[in-house]
Amino acid sequence: MANYRVGYFVGSLARNSINRKLAIALTRLAPAELTMREIPIGDLPLYSYDYDTAYPPAGKALKDAIANVDAVLFVTPEYNRSIPGALKNAIDWASRPWSMNSFARKPSGIIGTSPGKIGTAVGQQHLRSILAFCNSPLMNAIEAYIQFTPGLITDDGEVTQSSTEEFLRNYMREYAGFIGRVYTAIGLPEQRAGHDFLA
Ligand SMILES: Cc1cc2nc3c(=O)[nH]c(=O)nc-3n(C[C@H](O)[C@H](O)[C@H](O)COP(=O)(O)O)c2cc1C
Repeated sequence: MANYRVGYFVGSLARNSINRKLAIALTRLAPAELTMREIPIGDLPLYSYDYDTAYPPAGKALKDAIANVDAVLFVTPEYNRSIPGALKNAIDWASRPWSMNSFARKPSGIIGTSPGKIGTAVGQQHLRSILAFCNSPLMNAIEAYIQFTPGLITDDGEVTQSSTEEFLRNYMREYAGFIGRVYTAIGLPEQRAGHDFLA
């Protein structure tokens, strides 16, 4: 099986983010063919198209980081039944300048956790809509809405409930398979040189 680099976004800027704990757990549970690294979003200024002619270092770093991975994974809370502003801001940065959309043809997955019973389901639907517009092939199933209970995942990413641990391991296995299927269909980026459509 091929190896893939996965860049993950944590949609929360909070110090004790439960979604960061989830991201660390997913990194631990990912199959060996996935190399996981975080793509940070906390230093980005608020996007404006005034920056399109000269991206600041944080904007450039974001686009470089996405260019250097084969797939992206969104690990995000839901804010007011949508996605957090910081994450939307990062997506706006990465999607521009026009014709240089970093998400085009980049496989993606979504997962999130909340103390609430429907665990980020509504926010994830909004994110699906955004990523569809950004032309990212998105894993439709399995869906993962994790209800966070106290102690479910430690700061080191250890999952304390075996059924949740197995679910998350299976999610990452499925996500690796999805990435493989996308690249089987569209070819790896280096094989597509000269045939790419970025918009
Ligand atoms: C501005 C704001 C809006 C929120 N809206 C929702 C919501 O719509 N649905 C939900 O399940 N939880 C909501 N919450 C609670 C979050 O799920 C909870 O704060 C969680 O810890 C956020 O994830 P994080 O710790 O990774 O930041 C909201 C929290 C904040 C701060």
